[in-house]
Amino acid sequence: MERTKFILNENEVPTSWYNILADLPEPMPPVLHPGTGKPIGPDDLAPLFPMALIQQEMSSERYIEIPDEVSDIYRLWRPTTLFRAHRLEKALDTPAKIFYKYEGSSPPGSHKPNTAVAQAYYNKKEGINRITTETGAGQWGSALSFGGACFGLEIKVYMVRISYDQKPYRRIMMETWGGKCVPSPSPDTKAGRDMLAKDPDCPGSLGLAISEAVEEAVGRDDTHYSLGSVLNHVLLHQTVIGLETRKVMMEKADVYPDIIVGCIGGGSNFAGMFLPFVKDKIDGTKPDLRIINVESTSCPTLTKGPYAYDFGDEAGLTPLLKMYTLGHDFIPPPVHAGGLRYHGMAPIISHLYKLGLVEARAEHQLGTFKAGVTFARSEGIISAPETNHAIKVVIDEALACKKSGEAKTILLAHSGHGHVDMAAYEAYFAGRLKDYDYPKEKVEESLANLPKVD
Ligand SMILES: Cc1ncc(COP(=O)(O)O)c(C=O)c1O
Repeated sequence: MERTKFILNENEVPTSWYNILADLPEPMPPVLHPGTGKPIGPDDLAPLFPMALIQQEMSSERYIEIPDEVSDIYRLWRPTTLFRAHRLEKALDTPAKIFYKYEGSSPPGSHKPNTAVAQAYYNKKEGINRITTETGAGQWGSALSFGGACFGLEIKVYMVRISYDQKPYRRIMMETWGGKCVPSPSPDTKAGRDMLAKDPDCPGSLGLAISEAVEEAVGRDDTHYSLGSVLNHVLLHQTVIGLETRKVMMEKADVYPDIIVGCIGGGSNFAGMFLPFVKDKIDGTKPDLRIINVESTSCPTLTKGPYAYDFGDEAGLTPLLKMYTLGHDFIPPPVHAGGLRYHGMAPIISHLYKLGLVEARAEHQLGTFKAGVTFARSEGIISAPETNHAIKVVIDEALACKKSGEAKTILLAHSGHGHVDMAAYEAYFAGRLKDYDYPKEKVEESLANLPKVD
């Protein structure tokens, strides 16, 4: 009998996060102050984040210890299980060996609490009792509400309007954990009011929701801001996924992946998975390892955007990040994978892509739902629409193995379940979903507004 589940013991869970900044072959471009155009320092970020997170954002220490208080809460769902997808392999009749590390078993149902709990902890430790944030699909807002409940913090979430309407149960999850959720654009901030005056039916975007959350945090002394993806410290916290996976694969399953696949919105779940592996590529031990980032064709940041300095938010309130971007005021078409509708990409992933260490692919939503249904009917798990993007590419790679006869090992970063996304599945089964082509003209308009940097 071949094994299906591989699980570390609780005492084998990593006690530190891995910081790729210590091992990059070339340093990252600096983050710039939007006013001066000069590299920012810790004080520039102090109105938004606790100092411990600012230090992590800039640290070059290779391993950063996970506080005991965070590990205690991680133990509610970590370590997560590594599955061998025997039934999917059989359904595809492929010689490939498919593995997936499943983050959907966390309380909110995705990878997001890996950083939400850590961020809530560091804020509480520095005396902050209130945090604002944005959410797309609602996964991040519910994860931070859960993190807030763990440490007694008040959480206010600006949820992208289209997702707020499509996914009411996510809002109720946030409220169950004690969070407050409002649709964005909202009348609560200037950024929201300006947008509502321009377009009262605006579906919202992650960039705009970030503007609202940042504006409120900057305007109140008792409030900080928290971002669920993109930034270095967020990716750092997510490396608990890749560290666990590397250990369980090598020590319990006795395999090493040939290909790693994950979906990317701002890049946090997939970077969390692949960063501890990309290290092996950088140091030359695994030069042939392929790492495939999968994005949505409606928001094809890596595959179609330029590598440029841009704001992280719509209104231009954040520092300038060097990243692949479609322009900070680009509002992507309303695909159901709300978490993949972000105009930019994590600077760390952008840098690694520029250096040729990782690949990227964009997928249309119909194909991704088809793949998600194949996965559900073989492996059982009903996946989030975001995760379905990665599943589509895993299936394509497994079918390529069938053609070539190669028994490659494919590892999927499975970012979450889709139990709160059943309306999207219903729309798919009813034939109401459509593919969106990349809105080239809108992106060009938006790219014309990129900030000028010398
Ligand atoms: C289940 C799931 N996967 C992936 C993502 C994309 O985010 P990231 O690229 O930061 O992992 C999201 C974001 O909301 C999500 O909810």
